[in-house]
Amino acid sequence: MRSRVHIQSHPLHPILVAFPLALWSVSLIFDLLGLALHNPTLWAAGFYAIIAGTVGAAFAALPGIIDWLTIVPPQSSAKKTGFIHGTVNSLVVILFIVEAVRRGAAVTPPDRASVLISVLGVLLLGYSGWLGGTLVYRNQIGVDHRYANAGSWKERTITDWKRPACNVGELAQGQMMLTIIAGERVVIGKCPEGVVAFSDHCTHNGGTLADGVLIGCAVQCPWHGSQFDVHNGRVISGPAQKQIKTYATRVHDGEVYVSPLQVTERKQA
Ligand code: FES
Repeated sequence: MRSRVHIQSHPLHPILVAFPLALWSVSLIFDLLGLALHNPTLWAAGFYAIIAGTVGAAFAALPGIIDWLTIVPPQSSAKKTGFIHGTVNSLVVILFIVEAVRRGAAVTPPDRASVLISVLGVLLLGYSGWLGGTLVYRNQIGVDHRYANAGSWKERTITDWKRPACNVGELAQGQMMLTIIAGERVVIGKCPEGVVAFSDHCTHNGGTLADGVLIGCAVQCPWHGSQFDVHNGRVISGPAQKQIKTYATRVHDGEVYVSPLQVTERKQA
């Protein structure tokens, strides 16, 4: 899913995380070399690299937090992974601030505790980077991919179910739009049999279906490939086992209206 904070589709968070990663790692190397060679210039460089890395982390955190709040789907595995990723990163920031405060000045040589704090910080950074990799390479957070006929990402927020969600001409065959209607995440798509509406929430791990691909009347989740029939929500292929919610749609004067009642609820009513 495309990042909210990007430069021409290039998300800012992965660009900025390179600074704290490199600076904190190199600070440990400078400190170890400084101690081994009894060279005050090297441990001073280590001290300044800690400060610069901490400033870099603050800049990198901002787009990361914005993306976690706005594009990572709610109640999903990626939301939890992102939370752990952010918590571990905050812990690393605290560790390096503690280390900088303990040393107090560039001329102070790092003691054993300082080195241990740095080693712990760099190890935690590696773990956090692993989680960041899961978010990008598996959950495709920040990835602006395009499937055949999918067009560019479309998203809209509507406060009331009585209002039209979109115009039927806005969607090409196979195209989808994420519509947040009165707080509910609904995907509107156009399949060969007309306009359909279904929940954005994949029942496997909460992947966003609006970011997937609509082929015929089946939608495929981008995270692990589960496929669902968009008319009745049934699972065509796993790993998901539970059907998704589907909604009735109505086209009036070219405008698409979505019913707040799910199709299954309607049949029982
Ligand atoms: S979240 Fe795993 S297939 Fe959708």
